[in-house]
Amino acid sequence: MIDIHSHILPGVDDGASAMEDAVNMARLALDEGITKIIATPHHQNGMYFNKKQDILKRVKELNNVLQSENISLEVLPGQETRIYGSLLDDFEKGDILTLNHTNYLFVELPSGHVPRYTEQLLFEMQLKGVTPIIVHPERNAEVLKNPEKLLSLVKKGALTQLTAGSLTGHFGKKVQKFSLQLIEANSTHFIASDAHNTSTRNFHMRESISKVHKEFGSQVVYYFQENAELLVQDQSVYRQEPSKIKCKKFLGIF
Ligand SMILES: [Fe+2]
Repeated sequence: MIDIHSHILPGVDDGASAMEDAVNMARLALDEGITKIIATPHHQNGMYFNKKQDILKRVKELNNVLQSENISLEVLPGQETRIYGSLLDDFEKGDILTLNHTNYLFVELPSGHVPRYTEQLLFEMQLKGVTPIIVHPERNAEVLKNPEKLLSLVKKGALTQLTAGSLTGHFGKKVQKFSLQLIEANSTHFIASDAHNTSTRNFHMRESISKVHKEFGSQVVYYFQENAELLVQDQSVYRQEPSKIKCKKFLGIF
């Protein structure tokens, strides 16, 4: 299994603090059935700045350590960039890192709202051939209140990624219910751990897959797993038009 979102790189953000923590996270990831993991440190979120070249160097270092410890987890490079006005200028400058050097880029919205310029920025990004993946929309307060905001971005080409822990109820019942509704409404394309450590914010990948299997069956589990595979190979991922009937049903709940 591939986990496309993690904070396993040590000492760069609020994830693994030292190499020892990263190694422990890697061991736990393997226990969860993860064989490849994308390291996606925070960037431009007001606290942390992790530019492309620095991440690439640190991913190499981590892979070397894991190899020397005989831990067969492959770490791929990525970045979790908070949306900001000059993101595309910095992309041109070479500070922004797509997921495993593909044309897919993680975009994090602020937790409380969806900035007005989001739609325009994601549109311009796609004109450059880059597909935005909005990370954990289910934990955004404005999206929870008004899911249409998200659906409109998805209809205009954005992809979305749910957090495994949201599906398992680790972020509360409301977030869990909304996550399931996003799947039902064909409005999400990936499930990933967003793991920060081995305790309070760990992987929950296996548990989330069981939940998806129970609620939607094996085909939907396969869809999410296949999409992660396609992503790291820079191929087109599966997506369906959000269903109007399902959307109405799911919008009606809020
Ligand atoms: Fe994250």
